[in-house]
Amino acid sequence: MITTVFKDKKIYEKYRKTVNEIAEKIKNHQGLIRIITHYDTDGLASGTILIKMLYRLNKNFHLSIVEHLNEKVINRIYNNEYNNTLYIFCDMGSAYIDTIAGKDMNAIILDHHPPKLRYTKVEEVHQLNPHLFNLNGVREVSASGVCYLVAREYEFYDLSIFAIVGAIGDVQHEPFIGMNKFIVNEAREHRYLRNIVKDIIYNAYDLPIWQSILYSTKPYIKELSDEESVMNLLKEVDIDPNKTYLEEEEKNRLVSALKRYVDESQIVVDRYIINHKIEDAYYLSEILNACGKKGMGSVGIGVALEDDECIKIGKKIYIKYKNDIIEQLKNIELHKLNNIEYFFGKKGTIGHMASLLVRDKPVIGIYEEEGYYKMSSRGNRLLVEKGLDLSKVMSIASQFGGSGGGHNIASGARIPKIYLNAFLQKVDEIVGNQLKRREREMEN
Ligand code: C5P
Ligand code: C5P
Ligand code: C5P
Repeated sequence: MITTVFKDKKIYEKYRKTVNEIAEKIKNHQGLIRIITHYDTDGLASGTILIKMLYRLNKNFHLSIVEHLNEKVINRIYNNEYNNTLYIFCDMGSAYIDTIAGKDMNAIILDHHPPKLRYTKVEEVHQLNPHLFNLNGVREVSASGVCYLVAREYEFYDLSIFAIVGAIGDVQHEPFIGMNKFIVNEAREHRYLRNIVKDIIYNAYDLPIWQSILYSTKPYIKELSDEESVMNLLKEVDIDPNKTYLEEEEKNRLVSALKRYVDESQIVVDRYIINHKIEDAYYLSEILNACGKKGMGSVGIGVALEDDECIKIGKKIYIKYKNDIIEQLKNIELHKLNNIEYFFGKKGTIGHMASLLVRDKPVIGIYEEEGYYKMSSRGNRLLVEKGLDLSKVMSIASQFGGSGGGHNIASGARIPKIYLNAFLQKVDEIVGNQLKRREREMEN
């Protein structure tokens, strides 16, 4: 029961009221509905849920995929000539609720980032955000989970698979807890999640096994980052490199051989088998991520909507994206400060690469665009337990004429070029303080 996810009855009642108001507002809206969503997996999965929901409710809609929300983007999107438009922001918006409310926009925010104002309703703006209901937006539910909570008000339980895909994209699946766990169970109960199987991660892809290994970044095995090494390994364990699916015996041989590089737990994982042409939720999340990061978010939406042509293109984009990452990882130069590490990379891949490079310090990936440096910072759970909050760290970009924010474990920023060094110094200092403060608290 969904009630058990909430801390107490009062919070649950508040959630009921909010989600019910939002579902009614959408159902009763007669004009255009504009969806503005984020370009990553969670954003594209959110967009997919809303598109399918609005089709079924017979609404006119328009979907826009954006990299980041800020006042400029809101100004571009908002057109007060069309006063009968309902705007739905997903995977973004909570940090800008005052701007949105200030424009008297008729809007709904379905987000999981820390909200700026702790309201569920500011005049015309309705907001469904886990943080407002004592739920953890980094671990317990993603934006697509929030969108699904609206969709299930109309009993569209099949859309739960996209909430699972979105949550995996935001790394909330290890393991699924809280609201995510509830959604997984609901998907399972209705058989849209067909199965959860312990399997090797390489079986998730419908690619020849040598490609599945070569393109894997989770785990990323440095020793197997070129075709020849992968082929040699497969020869050693007597596996046909062109096989797409490995049987039990072959799996065991491969796992034993790979143990020299990584822990078995990284190779043998829970696979989520969904009712979708891309049957593996992780594979689908990876294709969506690749499409989004390569500036092909619409193809990603097409893949999620099971358009055969988009699926073909999406799979190619996935391979191209992974090749890019692997090539860049080979040549990366990591710069070290006292408490952080950073590198210069390319648009679309810095976030993914940063998370692969995290060891005992947070890592920041940086690239240049139009007079600005844009960056993605990533930590890990251990660092967060030690006090790291990258959301707070990156938000100091506003002191340098930029903007930034996100989650404790993953955040981003953009700053004018001239301030890069000063900004990184400040970031280094703040991270140091965050980690030290917790150490002191533990000692006392
Ligand atoms: O996503 P994009 O910014 O390109 O969409 C803007 C277009 O959407 C406008 O040019 C307009 O034709 C259309 N629109 C509309 N009715 C609205 C809002 C936008 O037809 N209420
Ligand atoms: O915009 P959004 O909140 O969806 O971005 C979250 C980002 O954080 C994703 O790129 C996701 O891969 C990353 N993340 C991560 N490690 C985690 C949780 C999230 O790298 N443990
Ligand atoms: O772009 P990236 O994937 O690194 O973003 C990680 C997180 O930081 C996302 O949740 C994103 O919304 C947030 N972010 C932000 N402001 C920025 C850049 C990223 O709030 N300027």
